[in-house]
Parts: sequence; structure tokens; C-alpha cells
Amino acid sequence: MLEKSAAGYAFLQRKVKEHVGIDLAMYKDRQMMRRLTGYLQRHNLPSFYALGRLIERDPDALRALREFLTINVTEFFRNPASFETLKSRVLPELARVGEPLRIWSAGTANGAEAYSLAILLEELRLGPEHRIMATDIDQGALDEARTGIYGPMHLKEVSDARRRLFFEAVGEETWRIRPGVAARVAFRRHDLLRDPYPSPTHLILCRNVVIYFTEEAKERIYLGFARSLVPGGYLLVGGTESILRPARFGLESAGPFLYRRTEVAV
Ligand SMILES: C[S@@+](CC[C@H](N)C(=O)[O-])C[C@H]1O[C@@H](n2cnc3c(N)ncnc32)[C@H](O)[C@@H]1O
Repeated sequence: MLEKSAAGYAFLQRKVKEHVGIDLAMYKDRQMMRRLTGYLQRHNLPSFYALGRLIERDPDALRALREFLTINVTEFFRNPASFETLKSRVLPELARVGEPLRIWSAGTANGAEAYSLAILLEELRLGPEHRIMATDIDQGALDEARTGIYGPMHLKEVSDARRRLFFEAVGEETWRIRPGVAARVAFRRHDLLRDPYPSPTHLILCRNVVIYFTEEAKERIYLGFARSLVPGGYLLVGGTESILRPARFGLESAGPFLYRRTEVAV
């Protein structure tokens, strides 16, 4: 039987802050407690206290917990320059073709990436026929995404003007994306390593997801993305994820961390 007292959680919070350097107070308690409860079960630990004590003395356990805690890390407009490029160049160019755009945020985590895209569509006054699919393997992250509620940690890159226009306050430091903006995004569970890829798509964002994968898995994923994209469609990757020799996937470089699907069949 797991012991999950508030005092035990507070003890773990202190230990995590001290040893992992992550302030769990910046995460929503209920969700974080639910995730950590699953973690306790998987590691056969009886309580939050036990986990707190373990990370104090066992460097491997400490590393594993850090990895677990950071794997879903995301925020609105992460890598702002990439979103600038999407807004000023990529989305207007794609919209000129005149088809309803299908945009895919793959490995979206808690939805901040997908809603950032929705904000860009609003700002560019692109109609509701342009849609965003947001997928992730982690059902817990998708549940969080659907609430559309975020704290200061996720909103650092959101200007006051954007916050006023596209969010509503739900608490002193908590904000919910407005329903009209949220309606542009459909969330769905999808495993990039197992499930068929949606197609056709015009723009795919897959950032800070494949860093944890083998080369072989990455190649399969990039090929899958290239096949999903229409010719002239774009793939945006994360700030540490440049694709080597993109031509082998039918992709060409189109700017920092940005690739364009060529006409070549793959
Ligand atoms: C660090 S987050 C990236 C979030 C967002 N793309 C960003 O850059 O801010 C990585 C996400 O990839 C998801 N992920 C890991 N393996 C996956 C897989 N096989 N298929 C789909 N998503 C996966 C994780 O659940 C996690 O939410």
C-alpha cells in the first residue's frame, strides 16, 4: 500500500529542490503527485518519503528521477526565433496555396507548443479551417494539455499583450488558453515509433522528442515525416536536432532547424 501524505510530498519537494534543482512547487500538485505515484509504483517504493531519502544517497536514482521530471519539459514559444520564422515566413507561404492547412505538433507534451501555433494562426487571421493535430505518447501529458491551464513556468515567453488576448486568468498566477483558440487544436495519443503517421500534412513540429531515440529510430521518424508532408511542406526540429544529409529523406534545409519537403519521391 502506497503512503501518499501531503507531508511526505512536501518532504520530497524539498529533497528534489535540493538535489535535482527542480522546484516542484512550480508544477501543478495534483498532476505531479499522480505522475510521481506512478513512479513510486514502477520503482517499488512505498512512499514519497522513501523516494526523497533514496535520491539523497543513490546517484543513479537521482539521475533517473531527474530524467523522469524533465522529459515533458516544454513551454509556450520555446525557441522564440523558430516561432518568429513560422509567423513571418512559413505559415504565410503555406497559406498562399489556398488549401486548409494541416499542422502536426508531434510529441507536444502538455500542449504549449500546439497552442503557441494556434496563437500564430489567430494573429495571422487564418480561418478555423486550418487545423492543428497535437499528439504525444503520454496520456497524462495529453490530459493536462486538454485543460489548457498553465502556470508561470510555461508562460515565460508569452508577452503581456498575448496573455491578455489569448488567455483568461483562472488563479493568481494561472492562466487558461481561451476556448476559441483551444478549439483549433485536436489532441490525440500517438506513438511515433509504432503508429501510422497522419497524411497529408503541411507543417510538422517535432522538437526535443527524438533526442532520446537511437539513430535508427530517428531515421524512421524523419522518413515518416517526409512521407507525411506535401511537397513544399515544412518540418521544424528542436534547437539541438539538426538532420544530417536531409536529402536522403527527401528534405532540404530551409533555415535554422527548418526543413522543406522536396518533390523527390521517398
Ligand atoms: C521534452 S518534450 C517536448 C515537448 C515540445 N515538443 C517542446 O519542444 O517543447 C518530449 C515529449 O515527447 C514525448 N514522446 C516521447 N516518446 C514519444 C513517442 N515514441 N511518440 C510520441 N511522443 C513521444 C514525451 O511524452 C514528451 O511529452
